[in-house]
Amino acid sequence: MHLVPAGADVLDLACGTGRHTALFSASGFKVTAVDRDISQLGVLAERKNIEVHQVDLEGETNWPFSNRSFGAIVVANYLHRPLIPHLISALEPGGVLIYETFAAGNEQFGKPSNPNFLLEPGELMDVVAGKLTVVAYEHGVLHHPRSAVVQRICAMNRSDPVVLQPR
Ligand SMILES: C[S@@+](CC[C@H](N)C(=O)[O-])C[C@H]1O[C@@H](n2cnc3c(N)ncnc32)[C@H](O)[C@@H]1O
Repeated sequence: MHLVPAGADVLDLACGTGRHTALFSASGFKVTAVDRDISQLGVLAERKNIEVHQVDLEGETNWPFSNRSFGAIVVANYLHRPLIPHLISALEPGGVLIYETFAAGNEQFGKPSNPNFLLEPGELMDVVAGKLTVVAYEHGVLHHPRSAVVQRICAMNRSDPVVLQPR
């Protein structure tokens, strides 16, 4: 989050209950929260700096933001591959893509086990290659809150080196 430009518009795609919408809006960012089931947002939807869109992202007109751009795009635990090029194009200069979802190998722990919902090793690196600069990438097993194989990337629409947070 420290890499997101101050005052950026943040897109939380397939926001669910709004874990990340809540985090970014509490930090002063204006957040656009999108899901096909916006009821999960509850009272969060009433916050002044949150714009809510009910959209079926896998429907006929699946990309609802063709004339908009964002300083950060967050996608967690959701994968619909045709949307990925739109995410990359919608990043403003200096913008950050933060994407984490289940990956190949998760079948051993349960669902999702359908390959349509599991990233291949290196897939997020491949989709941003030549378009965004990768700041961080991981693919591995998490054991909390439950065992799962995940892949995650933080990539930016800039080429100069970013300031990393100290460990
Ligand atoms: C596992 S939840 C993840 C929620 C949130 N990103 C998080 O990490 O807490 C997946 C979300 O994707 C949404 N979703 C699934 N298919 C969708 C679609 N076709 N269009 C829009 N949202 C969809 C679901 O409604 C659900 O809220």
